[in-house]
Amino acid sequence: MNSFGKIFRVSIFGESHGQVVGVTIDGCPAGMPVDIAEISEQLERRRSGKKGTTPRKESDVPEIMSGVFNGFTTGAPITLVTRNSDTRSADYEESPFIPRPGHADFTARVKYGGFSDFRGGGHFSGRLTWGLVVAGYFARKIIFPASVSAKLISAGGNSDIEKAISIAEARQETIGGIVECRIDGLPVGLGEPFFMSAESVLSSMVFSIPAIRGIEFGTGFAAASMFGSDHNDSISDSSGSTDTNHSGGINGGITNGNQIVFRIAVKPASSTGVEQNTIDLRNNKRTTIRVRGRHDTLIALRVPVILEAVAAIAFADLLMIDRGINFTSDRYI
Ligand SMILES: Cc1cc2nc3c(=O)[nH]c(=O)nc-3n(C[C@H](O)[C@H](O)[C@H](O)COP(=O)(O)O)c2cc1C
Repeated sequence: MNSFGKIFRVSIFGESHGQVVGVTIDGCPAGMPVDIAEISEQLERRRSGKKGTTPRKESDVPEIMSGVFNGFTTGAPITLVTRNSDTRSADYEESPFIPRPGHADFTARVKYGGFSDFRGGGHFSGRLTWGLVVAGYFARKIIFPASVSAKLISAGGNSDIEKAISIAEARQETIGGIVECRIDGLPVGLGEPFFMSAESVLSSMVFSIPAIRGIEFGTGFAAASMFGSDHNDSISDSSGSTDTNHSGGINGGITNGNQIVFRIAVKPASSTGVEQNTIDLRNNKRTTIRVRGRHDTLIALRVPVILEAVAAIAFADLLMIDRGINFTSDRYI
């Protein structure tokens, strides 16, 4: 159950310490140029290595397994993978018995009866977001000329990101952050009322990124304390442009032609260097854990490109639901 989309369909697979992680994309129009260097450029923004990210170093090199021929999409399912190489599974020997608080060790153990791969968080690892970024590369081409960009605007409650990381590192702690995303150039009319509303589809994709705790559109939660006349966005011309953008570019679940604006809350990684209380499932006794392994101090540093990708995926699907699978094909030739 790891698939998204009605027409632009994305499935991600793999485990943190397995052979590969990867993605299969079905429903991608034929004739789209594919440039591995461009894909790698986007993947580079997700990679670890910077201050505040995990010391685990993966090459992240993408390998095309199917669906691309002579540099163009063929219309058949596209699969890309990358190999896992920098794994240290011994750090996770106790994970099935001594679950990390806040991680998926306990829920996965119960749901899958102890059969899930727990090494490095297994299928729950942030490593799986590699496939989301790759799918985002194709989705961005579908929504073109619309463009999407996201940035980290605060960390640990501080707009000085560097300072927030230094404080956290000194305490062997992890911190969360807020990432803001803006999409320009989407047409009016994407999204369906109720279940496939633009907000619902976008949120469903956003919450497929591990460690996301909240989302708000436009003015978001602050709207609850505004007067209606202040919150309404005055329409200034027949294209639907508005003077303000409190609604974040969506009305009635449908894009209104203005900039889409939303923010997400990323939690602190559950794996901190601080001792925490948990349970030893071998004897049902309470115990403590100090998490081993290599982890991100600030996951949110790596999230902007992932968020851009899932937003593009959500709108690629909504665009094709509105206009059909082949509407884009001739734009790439
Ligand atoms: C890019 C990325 C990197 C992550 N790195 C870590 C990490 O180093 N340590 C950790 O405990 N969780 C990390 N996570 C979060 C876990 O995958 C996530 O918290 C866990 O799967 C439980 O899911 P939940 O937080 O959505 O409930 C990362 C998430 C992302 C998106």
